[in-house]
Amino acid sequence: MSGEKKDLNLHFTPALQKATQLNFEKGEGPYLYTTDGEKYLDFVQGIAVNALGHCHPKIVNAIEEQAKKLIHGSFNLGYYPSALNLADKLAELTPGDLNMFFFSNSGAEAVEGSLKLARYRTGKKAFLAFRGSFHGRTFGATSMTSSTVSFRKKYEPLLPGIYHVPYPYCYRCPYGQHVETCSLECLEEINTAFHYLVPPDEVAMALFEPVQGEGGYIVPPNKYVHALAELCNKNNILLAFDEIQTGFGRTGHMFAAEHFNIIPDILVLGKAIAGGMPLSAVVSNEGLMKDWAPGAHGGTFGANPISCAAAVASLQAIKEEQVLDNCRNNGSYFIDKLKELQNKFGFIGDVRGLGLMLAVELVDAKGNPDADLNKRVNNYCREKGLLLLPCGTFKNCIRFIAPLNVSRPVIDEALQIFEHALANAS
Ligand SMILES: Cc1ncc(COP(=O)(O)O)c(C=O)c1O
Repeated sequence: MSGEKKDLNLHFTPALQKATQLNFEKGEGPYLYTTDGEKYLDFVQGIAVNALGHCHPKIVNAIEEQAKKLIHGSFNLGYYPSALNLADKLAELTPGDLNMFFFSNSGAEAVEGSLKLARYRTGKKAFLAFRGSFHGRTFGATSMTSSTVSFRKKYEPLLPGIYHVPYPYCYRCPYGQHVETCSLECLEEINTAFHYLVPPDEVAMALFEPVQGEGGYIVPPNKYVHALAELCNKNNILLAFDEIQTGFGRTGHMFAAEHFNIIPDILVLGKAIAGGMPLSAVVSNEGLMKDWAPGAHGGTFGANPISCAAAVASLQAIKEEQVLDNCRNNGSYFIDKLKELQNKFGFIGDVRGLGLMLAVELVDAKGNPDADLNKRVNNYCREKGLLLLPCGTFKNCIRFIAPLNVSRPVIDEALQIFEHALANAS
């Protein structure tokens, strides 16, 4: 592929780092097309936003129809049908009694909302965050983030009162344990923090990714998530799940919380919620939400009518087109194929994920993270027309974010390029 251009950054600060210099003109299903007419298989999908691929006709239609009626009225001024409709539909899908919403625009904004809700309703100040997690780029969200230090560099002092504890990254367990036999030493670190750093009765909320996203698509053991929920419950700490990347079917269930059969106190949603339109949500039960006083939180654009209409259309299509079944079936096909590749290429240290939230971790001969190899594989794939994004705190993981309605031939197309990349880049 030769469509890379070098001079597109004239008016853009490099602060927002680009994975490529490609100039995309249109998208269709799993494919992206550049202004030069080059076609790319897109297994990034707007960073886990386009659950149904690019420009799904039902979403396009909903956007067009809503744009003819009302583009923006502000949810501060009154209600409108698309937002009411979305709230009704979402309340049927969100776990347990989580049926009240605050709509905003981006994931980070929703994370901020959850922090504010937790402080407001508990009167407590401190938060637990998990090492390697990513929650966004605003100050509060950055303060909760630790997937890489470069996201925090030069921004100190960040929000005080945040205590980072280990995420259960079993492949690189710092305690040398195995998941089947471990005694959750990583969870015990929370009690250690309560002993040395912060009393539990000063902690408002723990914000947990039920599958760690940017940190490396790490799936926590079931027993860890249950023990965490118990620990929070025992200490009267709100448990919030950041499902911004895992939500809306990515893991094979509508929400990753369902894998663990746990109903958190707060759910934070974004990304795939509205088929590519900007929308996010803080979700909780009536008990927590109803005494968040009028005016305690707000925003001009939240619950935008077009975003809400697109969200309703997306939810409908996910249901009508049995997208979750496809995600589970093709996700298991995909991960099996990746495991076959792991048998063939010794430098694939780990293959992991749920549904179509899949990643491989590349390592050197000693098992250490190999970020250079990762980069070479990624570049090779791009040269051959497959777009992938790295992840992982050591930048040595490659994630596969296929649309959830992806077909097997398209998965095979990606796997063929990926296998060639592995063979050529080592
Ligand atoms: C788990 C998680 N939380 C929060 C965010 C931030 O979302 P946004 O980029 O929409 O602010 C992301 C984005 O990648 C994410 O993966």
